[in-house]
Order: sequence, then C-alpha cells, then structure tokens
Amino acid sequence: MSTQPAPVRRDPGYAGLTTPVETLPASWYFDSVHHERELSRIWYRNWLYVCRASELAAPRSFRTLDVGDQSLFVVRGENGEVRAFHNTCRHRGAALCRTAAGAFPAAGIVCPYHSWRYSLRGELLRTSSQVHGDGFDVHDYSLFSLPATEWNGFVFAAFTRDPPPFARSFDLPLGRLDDWQLGDLVIGHRLQKTIACNWKVFWENYNECLHCPGVHPRLAQLVPIFGRALLERRDDPDWQDHAEDNDPKYGGGLRAGAESWTMDGQPVGVLFPGVSAEDRQAAHIYLTSVPSVFIVAHIDYVRVVRLLPLASERTAMSIEFLFLPETLNTGRDITKAVEFTDIVMSEDAAVCELNQRGLHSLAYHAGVLMPEEYAIRQFQDWVRSELARS
Ligand code: FES
Ligand SMILES: [Fe+2]
Repeated sequence: MSTQPAPVRRDPGYAGLTTPVETLPASWYFDSVHHERELSRIWYRNWLYVCRASELAAPRSFRTLDVGDQSLFVVRGENGEVRAFHNTCRHRGAALCRTAAGAFPAAGIVCPYHSWRYSLRGELLRTSSQVHGDGFDVHDYSLFSLPATEWNGFVFAAFTRDPPPFARSFDLPLGRLDDWQLGDLVIGHRLQKTIACNWKVFWENYNECLHCPGVHPRLAQLVPIFGRALLERRDDPDWQDHAEDNDPKYGGGLRAGAESWTMDGQPVGVLFPGVSAEDRQAAHIYLTSVPSVFIVAHIDYVRVVRLLPLASERTAMSIEFLFLPETLNTGRDITKAVEFTDIVMSEDAAVCELNQRGLHSLAYHAGVLMPEEYAIRQFQDWVRSELARS
C-alpha cells in the first residue's frame, strides 16, 4: 500500500522557498581567478560606500578606497562638492595619495613623484618640465574622474563611469530612514575586524536567521522571532495562525521591556525624535546596499556595517555607530550598544570562518538552500546576474 505524503501547509503570502535551490559552486568562494572576476564584474561596477561626509568635512580633505588592485580617492572641493578620481597620475601612473586619508595642500593635488599639479576638479594645472613637447596639451591630461555622491552624510563612489542608478543599489527606497536624520549623525565608535572568509559568505550569513538560535543565544533572546530561526512573520509557513498576534515571537520586534539592541535592551543614546511608533516597535530597520554596506536603524543609534574584500578568503568589516550629536555631547555611555554588537558580530565572524573552511572539502561542490533562506537565493541570483552582465 503506498502512502501519500501529507500535503504541506503554506499559507498565502508565505515568504519561504517552496523547492530546494542549489547554492553557488564552492569554488566561487576561494578560487582566485573567480575572485578577480567578481572584483571586475561586481566590485568595480557598483556604488561603494567610502566614508561619512564628516570624515571629509574640510575643503581639500581626501580619503582613498582600495579594492583588489584598484584605488580611488574622494576629495572635498573648495566649493564643498565631493569628487572621485582614480588614484593615478596621468604622467607615469604614480599613486597620488600616499596615505588613506589626509588633506591636499593649497596648491591642489600634487603628485608625489614628479610634482604634476592638478586642481581639485582634476584639471592638470602644471607639469614639472621646462617646456612641453609640441602638441602636448594639459587639457588632455586631466585626472580620470569617477562618479561620487553624498547621500545623507554617506559618501559613495564607483570604479566605473557608469554605475547603475544610485537608488537601485539599495533594497528599500532611499528615503526609508529619513526619520533618523542620517545626515546629522556623528560617529560615536568604530569596530573593525578582518574575517577569514569570502565576502559572499558574510552576505549570506547576514541574509538568514536559521543560525540565530544556535549561534546568537543573546540576540535570540532579545529578538524572539530570531529565536524561532525566522526573520519575519511571513517566514513561518503557518503564519496566518498568528496573523493578528503582536507577541514579538510572531510579529518581530524586541522582547517585552527591551527597546534597543544593547546589553540590557535599554537605549544608550538620545532617541531619534521623528521615528514612527511602528518603527519604534520594530526596533531595527535594515537598509542594504550590495555589495558594500548595510545600515541598521535602532531607536537611539544607527549601525553602519561595511565590508571590503581583501582577498578571495579575507574580508574586512568595519562597523560605525552613529548617534545624534546630543548623545555624544552629553557624554552618554554607549558601551552597552557597542558590546552587544561586538558579541553578535564576533559570533557571526566565527561561523563565517567555519563556513569558509568547510567549503574547501573535496567532497563539497555546492549546497542547498532551505525555505528560510529565500534572501540568500535573491543574493545569489544577483551575484549570478552581475557576473553575466556584459
Ligand atoms: S608620475 Fe605623477 S608626476 Fe610623474
Ligand atoms: Fe548572525
């Protein structure tokens, strides 16, 4: 007698995957030739987060951004405008910036090698030769300019003249976090780590919460729905049973009595005054710009997590904690927010490194995505489509 498998219940609107999906090939996470391909097709073609505008406040200040063997710099013009250029001199190609951050002299951008001098707009002002060869025209040797944009106090640039429209690199409308006055926020702290994993391992881990109960006991307690290995209400196939239930276990948000992502759930900073009751309740709103950064808004601080690939199996992570100026001016102790993030991020870094090690197994060629990993599927589809883009 054959038995029919019981029909699977999936309520309408269920977010999960309904069939198993094969992951990206294992070699894409460590093969150096493939890594170069991803640098060219993804990292050199999309908008990348460079720094906060406040780190580039004074005219003539600059910051470099290095990815793979490429380097660009952004510079604040005398008129306040931010511009980006390839970090290379038009004479014989020397890098123009000796340091990762600094300020150019009043004379402008002076090449450290033979002192060619450029304006902050990138025009070649003078060479160091006695005379120029016939036909040499300084106008033909401006710096190679690149797109740069300042958005809500964040400076972004791209290694290509024609990146996709800026708003398209984000997963939500650009105005989603306007209530947080992002442009006015100041950096209260920065954490930096180097993780021994491919940059995609980091993004994949970020895109699922299947690991949350086992890997993040403290976070799973603070955010009860994460404790169920789910990110959102509709990740549960039976979500309609609790559609109206606002228990955070079903609806998201923090455990009773907690208001922010800190060690004791209590806010450490002055609260953002304009945040809606609904967003306050949600307690964390994510805005993501692949491949370089995600921003998480809480009721009293904003966390900016940026990644940069250092090599096929090494990724730099930097986390900035942004606050209203009042929070820092009044000397509030922000340690409990930093400590909490440090714990969660260290837990993530540890599993990312385990993931990376296992990917090398002779037996493993590709894995499988489970229903809760629908956002990884979107990420992997995006990676594939970027690689296929001519
Ligand atoms: S390489 Fe820059 S002036 Fe010669
Ligand atoms: Fe995690």
